[in-house]
Amino acid sequence: MAAAAAEYFIFLLSLAASSVLISTSHSRTVVEDLATLKPPPDFDAMLRTNCVHNPSHRYCGFSPADIDAVFKSTIVASYLCNESRNPNCVESFPRIDLRNRPKIAPLYLSFNFFWKYCPISINSIDLSNNSITGRFPADVLLCTQIKSLDFSHNRLTGDLPIKSFDPLTNLSSLNLSYNFFSEAKISDSQSFLRRFNSSSFIDSGLLPCPRTFTLKAVLLLVAFPVFVILVICCFGWLCFRRPDYLPRFLQPQHRFTTSMLRAATDGVSRKNLVVKSEEFRIFRGRLRDGCEVRVEIRLNDIDLHHHHHHTNITSEFVEECKVLVQLRHKNLLGVMGWCASREMRAVVTEWTEGDDVEMWLSGSCPPWKQRLKILMGVVEGMCYLQENWPEVGYDLRTGSLLLRYINLEPLITRFKVGEDDFNSKKVYKIGVLLLELITNRRPREDFKRGEAGFVEFVRANYPENLGGIIDDRMMLPENMLDQAKSGVGLGLMCTDLSMSKRPSVHHIHDMIRRAYKACFALTSQNCETRINRRDGGKGQR
Ligand SMILES: *[C@@H]1O[C@H](CO)[C@@H](O)[C@H](O)[C@H]1NC(C)=O
Ligand SMILES: *[C@@H]1O[C@H](CO)[C@@H](O)[C@H](O)[C@H]1NC(C)=O
Ligand SMILES: *[C@@H]1O[C@H](CO)[C@@H](O)[C@H](O)[C@H]1NC(C)=O
Ligand SMILES: *[C@@H]1O[C@H](CO)[C@@H](O)[C@H](O)[C@H]1NC(C)=O
Ligand SMILES: *[C@@H]1O[C@H](CO)[C@@H](O)[C@H](O)[C@H]1NC(C)=O
Repeated sequence: MAAAAAEYFIFLLSLAASSVLISTSHSRTVVEDLATLKPPPDFDAMLRTNCVHNPSHRYCGFSPADIDAVFKSTIVASYLCNESRNPNCVESFPRIDLRNRPKIAPLYLSFNFFWKYCPISINSIDLSNNSITGRFPADVLLCTQIKSLDFSHNRLTGDLPIKSFDPLTNLSSLNLSYNFFSEAKISDSQSFLRRFNSSSFIDSGLLPCPRTFTLKAVLLLVAFPVFVILVICCFGWLCFRRPDYLPRFLQPQHRFTTSMLRAATDGVSRKNLVVKSEEFRIFRGRLRDGCEVRVEIRLNDIDLHHHHHHTNITSEFVEECKVLVQLRHKNLLGVMGWCASREMRAVVTEWTEGDDVEMWLSGSCPPWKQRLKILMGVVEGMCYLQENWPEVGYDLRTGSLLLRYINLEPLITRFKVGEDDFNSKKVYKIGVLLLELITNRRPREDFKRGEAGFVEFVRANYPENLGGIIDDRMMLPENMLDQAKSGVGLGLMCTDLSMSKRPSVHHIHDMIRRAYKACFALTSQNCETRINRRDGGKGQR
C-alpha cells in the first residue's frame, strides 16, 4: 500500500501537480489552479498504467467523461496535503488535518470531486474547530478506508447519516463532540453508538444529551422532593386545620379543629350566637357536609394564664368528651365531637330545633300529660346513664333541658364527667324538676335561697294549700289534679333532707311511667270531666 501511495504521488508530481506545487507556489491559489489548469494529453494513459499496478485507486474504471474531475482532484489533493502539514507530500498523503482552520476547511469540503476520488493513502481526517455549519458533510465518508475522523467543535445540525458509516469498517476513532445534531433515533443508532464510546459524542446532541439529563436529574433531585414536600405540607395543613376537606375515611372521628368550627359558624359570628352565659357561648353552625350543629365554646380565660394548668384542663376536657361521644339515648343530646386547641375548647353536638323546657313551660302553658311525658323522658335518660355511665353527671335545670319540637322529647344537654355526683343528688335534682313542672315557678329567680327555698315553699303548702301552688293554667280536671298532688308528694320525697327517705331513680321511673299510663287512660274521660268542670267550674275560680 505504502508503495502504491508513493507511486501515486510521484506520479502526481511528475504530471499535473508538478506545475501546481512547484511552479505556481506562493502566488496562486487552489481555486485559480482549478480554473486554469488542464490535464496533459497523456493523462488518461497514465491513469490506466497506474491502475494496472494498483486497481484499488478510486479512479480505476473511470469513464472518459470523468477524466477532468480526476485531474482536478489531483490538484486539490496536492494543495490539501500541503495544508495538512504532512511531512513529505512528494511521497505520501496520510492525513487531512484542517483543525482550527475555519477559513479554508469549508472550501475543501465543497470539492465533492475530490472526495469522490479520495486518495486511498489517507488514514485520518481532522476537521475539528472550524465552525462548519449545516448538515454533516457526508462526502467525507467516501474515504471509506480512514481509521480516524474528527468533526468536534463545529456547528453541524440535523440528522447524522448513520447508515453511511457502515462501509467504514476500519474507523475506530470518531469524534463528533460539541455539535448541534438532532438526537439520534434510538432504533437505528443503538449499534452505532455502541461501536464508539460516549466520549465520541460529548455534547453533540446525538446522545440523550447531558443537558436534558441534567434537567431530568434536577427535576428528580430537586423538583420531585419539593413536590413531595408540598404535598405533605398540604396534607399536613389539611390534617391540622381542615380535616373536613380530606376523604371521609381519613377524617379523624369526633375531632374538630378551630378552623373547621370558625368556618362552620361564619367566623364565630354574633349572628349565630344562640346562648350566652358566663361559662360558655353556644353557636349555631353548619359543617362542610351540610350538617347543622350546636357549637358550645367554653370560656375560661383565667385558666389559660398558666400553661401547665391549661394542658391539664385540656386533657381533662378531652377525656370527658371521649366519654360523651359514646352516649346514645333519645333523651341525651348527641355529642358529635370536640375541639381542644390552644385557641378554643368546644363541644360539638347535634342541632335540635326547639326551645328549652323553661321557655316552653312559661310560654305555651303545656297540659299535664305533656309535662308528664317530659318528665318521663328525662328519667329514662337518667336511668340509661345510671346503668351504663354512672360516672357521668348532668344538669337538670329547666333552662338546660332542650325540647325537640318534632316529638316533644326532652334532651339532657349538659354533662359533667367524673364529678362525685351521688345518686341522692341526682334524685334531688329530679325532685326539683318535678316540682318545677307542676308549679311553674323558677326556683333560682323567684326564691332568695334558690332551690332550697323553693322546696321549702312547696313543703310549707303541702298538702293543705296545693291548689294555690299548682300551675293553674293547666286547668286540671279533678282526677288529674290528684295525680299532680301525688306528683308533688313524690317531688318532696326526692328532695327530703334525710337521704334515706329519698326514692331511687328506678323507683321514680316506675312511678312516673305508671302516672303517664294512667293519664292516658284518663284522657278518654277528659271530655266528660271537662264538661263537668265547665258547668260547675265558674264558681270555683
Ligand atoms: C506548502 O507548505 C509550506 C509550509 O508548510 C508553505 O510554505 C508553502 O507555501 C505551501 N505551498 C503551497 C502551494 O501552499
Ligand atoms: C479553536 O480555534 C480557535 C482559533 O480559531 C482557538 O483559539 C481555540 O483555542 C480552538 N479551540 C479548540 C478547542 O481547539
Ligand atoms: C481496512 O484495512 C484493511 C487492512 O489494512 C484493508 O484490507 C481494508 O480494505 C480496509 N477497509 C476498507 C473499507 O478500506
Ligand atoms: C472511551 O475511549 C477512551 C479512549 O478512546 C477511553 O479512555 C475511555 O475510558 C472510554 N470510555 C468509556 C466509557 O468506555
Ligand atoms: C473528542 O473531542 C473532545 C474535545 O476535543 C474530547 O474531550 C474527547 O475526549 C474527544 N473524544 C474522543 C473519543 O477522542
